[in-house]
Amino acid sequence: MSGVRSVYVKTYGCQMNVYDSDRMADALAPEGYRSVDSPDGADLVILNTCHIREKAAEKVYSELGRLRVLKERAAREGRTMTIGVAGCVAQAEGAEIIARAPTVDLVVGPQTYHRLPELVARARRGEKAVDAEFPAEDKFAHLPAAERRQTIARGVTAFLTVQEGCDKFCSFCVVPYTRGSETSRPVSAIVAEAERLAEAGVREVTLLGQNVNAYHGAGADGRDWGLGDLLFRLAAIPGLDRLRYTTSHPRDMDDALIAAHRDLPQLMPYLHLPVQAGSDRVLAAMNRRHTAAEYLALVERIRRARPDIALSGDFIVGFPGETEDDFKATLALVDAVGYASAFSFKYSPRPGTPAAELSAQVPEAEKADRLARLQALIADQYTAFNAATVGLTVPVLFEKPGRRPGQLVGRSPWLQAVHVDATETSARIGAIAPVTITATSTNSLAGRLAVGADRQTEDAA
Ligand code: SAH
Ligand code: SF4
Ligand code: F3S
Repeated sequence: MSGVRSVYVKTYGCQMNVYDSDRMADALAPEGYRSVDSPDGADLVILNTCHIREKAAEKVYSELGRLRVLKERAAREGRTMTIGVAGCVAQAEGAEIIARAPTVDLVVGPQTYHRLPELVARARRGEKAVDAEFPAEDKFAHLPAAERRQTIARGVTAFLTVQEGCDKFCSFCVVPYTRGSETSRPVSAIVAEAERLAEAGVREVTLLGQNVNAYHGAGADGRDWGLGDLLFRLAAIPGLDRLRYTTSHPRDMDDALIAAHRDLPQLMPYLHLPVQAGSDRVLAAMNRRHTAAEYLALVERIRRARPDIALSGDFIVGFPGETEDDFKATLALVDAVGYASAFSFKYSPRPGTPAAELSAQVPEAEKADRLARLQALIADQYTAFNAATVGLTVPVLFEKPGRRPGQLVGRSPWLQAVHVDATETSARIGAIAPVTITATSTNSLAGRLAVGADRQTEDAA
């Protein structure tokens, strides 16, 4: 311990990075590091980075340029600012980051955050500290135990990483290289963490994994449990009223998981199930290992089990060799599914991935045109989905005060943000109450507390 210091962690990329940023703050807390909201004046700044598309990785270098100015100012004022790069760019580029941006003092990959205190100490002694290996040890076993976490419950919703890495090797994707091969945490560790979260007032937990439904962790009975088994176990924890999980691969939606959607009221009717493309030729070249028809059949099975389920997805346009007809097959698939929301991206060639080596790269203008057309269709579906909820009375979990006094913001079961006017707003945070949806706007819904909501705030589901 060497007095109080401040750390600013900036997070890019997926929710697993959000979770990891909190774990880094936890690992540094025993060293006297307190988290702050700005890099200005911070003793330690960590960028928790994403490598998924070129733009994501480039953002890191522009941020490092801005940080260099702050670091030089700190030096003039006689302070030391240590700059670290963590996450997937750290894993992919390692020590090269320091060669390209000498302002960086330390580089740490996603598997070694438990070694952060030691790396920071080395960096503060003036060394360039780099640790971006895949160690044999389990990082979760070395991060502070749940009860010693500072960041355990910042609100009424929380993320919980249950699985890391990916063995799928889609031909466009860096994740198998930056996060390594698939590993699942044991059921007992996940249950303990979830219980701790529930005790701290968390009502909704989102289970995370790069490929979360490939989860296969050691159960108490010595068997390997799948995600479906795990969800049934977590649903038994008192106070955990809502469960979600992300991101899933279509190939890993097994019967037990679909049964969980049918049988568990706690499992919210919302599923992020990326398909990437609608053409079988492109799907094969992407190494997704399923066809468009198989995906549609899967969606139908899931909807039979849970008719009100909302789907979201990810799409890539302009994968090498994608023709106009291939692209039209993507539009047709989106039309057939009807998404509540979806993310879509222009294909970005990533170093070291097989697709980056393909010669038939699609011209940038073509990618931009396809992206605009796909996004227009997705926007229409999103608007229609939201409009269809107007007039319904749905359980809303209140998460935080709104911008105006007397306003609350919560989430519907379908992950829509809902704004509500209410009295005693602070007392309602963490409560689930029936709300009648009255209107939609671009990014959220408006609603009013339904009759009886005052007597029923505890559990309206
Ligand atoms: N595990 C998830 C995806 C994680 S990456 C899955 O299997 O679906 C999140 C999304 O980024 C992907 O679904 C994909 O749509 C997009 N993506 C990944 N690599 C990309 C690349 N090279 N170019 C453009 N988009 C990419
Ligand atoms: Fe990447 Fe997802 Fe494919 Fe894994 S399954 S390689 S994370 S897109
Ligand atoms: Fe990005 Fe790494 Fe997540 S590449 S999307 S931060 S797993």
